[in-house]
Amino acid sequence: MVMASSYGEVYAGWQKNPEGFWMEQAEAIDWFTKPGRAFDGNQGVYGSWYPDGITNTCHNCLDRHVAAGRGEQAALIHDSPITGTKRSITYSELLAEVEAFAGAMADKGIGKGDRVVIYMPMVPEAIVAMLACARLGAIHSVVFGGFAAHELATRIEDSEAKLIVSASCGIEPGRIVAYKPLLDAAIEQSRHKPEATIVLQREQQGCELIEGRDFDYAELLQANAGRKTPCTPVKATDPLYILYTSGTTGQPKGVVRDNGGHMAALYWSMHAIYGVKPGEAFWAASDIGWVVGHSYIVYAPLLHGNTTIVFEGKPVGTPDAGTFWRVISEHKVAVLFTAPTAFRAIRKEDPEGSLVGRYDLSGYRALFLAGERADPDTIHWAEKMLEVPVIDHWWQTETGWTIAGNPMGLGLKPVKYGSPAVAMPGYDVQVLDDAGHEVSAGTLGNIVVKLPLPPGCLPTLWNAEERFRQAYLSEFPGYYKTADAGFVDEDGYLFIMARTDDIINVAGHRLSTGGMEEVVSEHPDVVECAVIGIADPMKGQIPAGFIVINNQHGRSDEEIETEVVKLVREQIGPVAAFKTVMVVKRLPKTRSGKILRATMQKIADGEAWNMPATIDDPGVLDEIHEVLTKRGIARKSD
Ligand code: COA
Ligand code: AMP
Repeated sequence: MVMASSYGEVYAGWQKNPEGFWMEQAEAIDWFTKPGRAFDGNQGVYGSWYPDGITNTCHNCLDRHVAAGRGEQAALIHDSPITGTKRSITYSELLAEVEAFAGAMADKGIGKGDRVVIYMPMVPEAIVAMLACARLGAIHSVVFGGFAAHELATRIEDSEAKLIVSASCGIEPGRIVAYKPLLDAAIEQSRHKPEATIVLQREQQGCELIEGRDFDYAELLQANAGRKTPCTPVKATDPLYILYTSGTTGQPKGVVRDNGGHMAALYWSMHAIYGVKPGEAFWAASDIGWVVGHSYIVYAPLLHGNTTIVFEGKPVGTPDAGTFWRVISEHKVAVLFTAPTAFRAIRKEDPEGSLVGRYDLSGYRALFLAGERADPDTIHWAEKMLEVPVIDHWWQTETGWTIAGNPMGLGLKPVKYGSPAVAMPGYDVQVLDDAGHEVSAGTLGNIVVKLPLPPGCLPTLWNAEERFRQAYLSEFPGYYKTADAGFVDEDGYLFIMARTDDIINVAGHRLSTGGMEEVVSEHPDVVECAVIGIADPMKGQIPAGFIVINNQHGRSDEEIETEVVKLVREQIGPVAAFKTVMVVKRLPKTRSGKILRATMQKIADGEAWNMPATIDDPGVLDEIHEVLTKRGIARKSD
């Protein structure tokens, strides 16, 4: 598709005729029944996109490209420096594997609307499983490999998964992560039991399968080789997947994604935002367990006929800080999308960028960053090293694609460092004060999106419509609350400053400190606790816990601290990066008993802070400062 218009024209065009804009984007998708209209405000919680359209996402990702002559193009390149392997899979081959695996899943009783949990590392088979679900109209729920058994159990239980697709192991630097014991423990913990599991046996470490419950991926694939499994027609509004994300409690929110709106929005984003053409290689260096992986490792590149890079490794240490440049040059990547933390990690290892020059990056055009705030320092460094535009863009698991960004395919707008630029068509972004009034340019407030949300965004939370309303729609009637605070400047550029809830961003991973507090307080010696996110030069933020203990068993503070760290790792998983716990005598509170977490965080980060007027005992903050200083955590305050 040729983009003849500038951002301003396209955004104004959408404002003038939103439904016309989205009807036009729907033309890029194959439908069994074309939608007669773009939007129905009377369906769903805030309306439904393409309410009468019938389609199938897998057909749009695979079949139609093969039919159109793209069969011999690489659909997916698995580049795995951590195992020392590479594998390229064409669109025809991927279609054949998905058809076979979908057939195997159908034999296990999986059909339209059934839930399938996928707990797998970054291997092509994970993507096959996702697409096979889409083919059958089943709803997948991918769980990130860095989560522990308890988190997996919560998701199995909430989604009432009929089947789990998993692998024998994942590989992290220096260790093999055995998935099967975690999977078995999760099934044990979950009150809902899946009927079967399918396990990919990896050569790095196999696992025992339970007779009658667990099945071998490779055996099923072989038994179904050559099988044709048709695409099940689904409504545009039927769920494609559930992706659980951190909420304000230990109970994660099941973000629902539909089929039709999701495809239209992602397809548009590939050419308009990322500026890529079908056939080019696109690389999202993330994980399929996160929304970036769902949208930009799997669905968007395949919908758009690109080659997607599935990278199993780290930006550093696999084997060095030049890995990203090698992958870009070897697979002729046009656009790379990752989290700023990856670049901070690379910079730390190779500050002068001496490894960049070893690779031919001539076909490489742009770096997109998201998942956390892109600090200007990191952007400047990346610009200098790569000599391509470095583009910050802001979105959330809930939206599935960019809320605000700088659209490469529409002609880049001038960069303002520290800002992810401007609202994308579909999003009417506003900043409101706590009473719901719009604030003037430059004034900090709650960032909201006027309803309806555009196609691709969540229509609801899985089995939790009331929670959806409460969490996102009730505080500012008529608007979706992003839970980010920030401001818009005179030119309409957005600045994202902080979360308004307890979510923290650790190496681009979204985590709830409230969820961590729930786990910490399970320790028998912990009387009270608070977990806050403190600044970290590489990961952006890391969690730090403060515990008040009732030490009845005569053990040292250090022993209890170690146990608390272990507890969080076991319950939530290593991804929480929860390594710092401090025993304190008391927690700072207001007179009504509210813990002053924000003030504690300011003290830890060395930011200016005011004594809260409602504080119960000001002396407690001195104690906190003392403990932080002793641990070398409190930064010097100005
Ligand atoms: N399976 C099992 N364990 C995992 C895992 C997985 N899929 N992913 C991470 N972990 C573990 C790590 O091994 C680590 O464990 P450790 O405490 O024993 O060392 C822990 O979880 C924290 O992992 P991570 O946050 O990845 O930190 P790190 O120090 O290993 O690496 C970076 C830091 C910056 C290199 C890494 O976070 C990264 O590559 N980030 C890229 C951005 C990204 O993926 N963002 C996602 C959203 S876009
Ligand atoms: P997730 O749902 O994991 O994608 O996390 C979404 C949250 O990450 C947002 O609500 C923001 O708080 C933060 N975030 C994502 N992208 C950006 C960005 N470009 N700038 C600032 N914060 C971001």
